[in-house]
Amino acid sequence: MIDLLWPRYVAAVTDQQLVDWYTHPVPNGPRVSFNFVSSLDGAATLNGRSGELGNAADRRIIKLLRRTADIILIGAGTARIEGYSGNLIDPDDSQWRQDHGKSTQPALAVVSGGLSVDPGMPFFAAAAQRPLVITTAEADPDRKRKLGEVADVLVCGQRSLDVDVLIHELGLRGFYRLHSEGGPHLLGTFQQAGRVDELCLSVSPVLVGWPGMRIAVSSAKNPEPSYMHLEHVLRSGDMLFLRYLARQDSNTAENRAAPGVPSPSKGS
Ligand SMILES: NC(=O)c1ccc[n+]([C@@H]2O[C@H](COP(=O)([O-])OP(=O)(O)OC[C@H]3O[C@@H](n4cnc5c(N)ncnc54)[C@H](OP(=O)(O)O)[C@@H]3O)[C@@H](O)[C@H]2O)c1
Repeated sequence: MIDLLWPRYVAAVTDQQLVDWYTHPVPNGPRVSFNFVSSLDGAATLNGRSGELGNAADRRIIKLLRRTADIILIGAGTARIEGYSGNLIDPDDSQWRQDHGKSTQPALAVVSGGLSVDPGMPFFAAAAQRPLVITTAEADPDRKRKLGEVADVLVCGQRSLDVDVLIHELGLRGFYRLHSEGGPHLLGTFQQAGRVDELCLSVSPVLVGWPGMRIAVSSAKNPEPSYMHLEHVLRSGDMLFLRYLARQDSNTAENRAAPGVPSPSKGS
């Protein structure tokens, strides 16, 4: 059972209520939503994967987020470690999609600058539909060709990934609801590009106690913070589900000083 705790209390919410609360209008082009689970001490994995941090309610929310997505976007590390393959949604979700004029399955894309993904892995072999591989112009041409046999290869950026180009190109293909399930390097990249419109964060009631990866890892030397706005809080047992939206004015000095938003410390 999942209850809404904030901005008002609703006990035992329905799937339709969850879909309504998680589905944002997309009138102005593609929108990027990330979904992650984190431990109380900020770890993105337990025993090397995210699955053990989740629970049945978490899986219920992921399922509903996938139901409304146009495309599921993941990084190469997540594709390898989290074992994405086959149908990623259930028949009832496919039916819901058809009833709402969508394809039976959301499309699937993997971001891989170095094309480290193996064309033989189940991600490709068992995919419900031909996936996209998103890479750069300077990626190895041989690997591009091999992956081109099992996927559509989309070039977004010359030497490094250009997130704006990626979002634009997906929009041109009719993908407006971009739903990403990570991983941390992909979120770090989008965050530094200022293109995280939404973060759905499940907070798992466990202290991992291990210096593992956090949910966002950026390669930038001095990463810029992104301030977000709390949209709702759900609860199932000891697990919380937080939905945050990007603040439009996120990096103004005034916003940083706003109540509830930490100000940068001065001289401490
Ligand atoms: N807590 C959660 O909700 C959650 C969610 C997802 C994953 N995870 C965990 O996170 C771990 C994997 O972390 P990760 O950070 O390696 O995952 P990731 O972001 O999915 O994968 C990283 C890889 O994706 C490609 N990539 C990402 N950003 C790129 C960029 N800007 N340019 C070019 N390529 C880019 C690169 O592939 P190439 O090497 O091919 O260039 C990179 O090595 C796993 O243990 C997984 O279980 C946790």
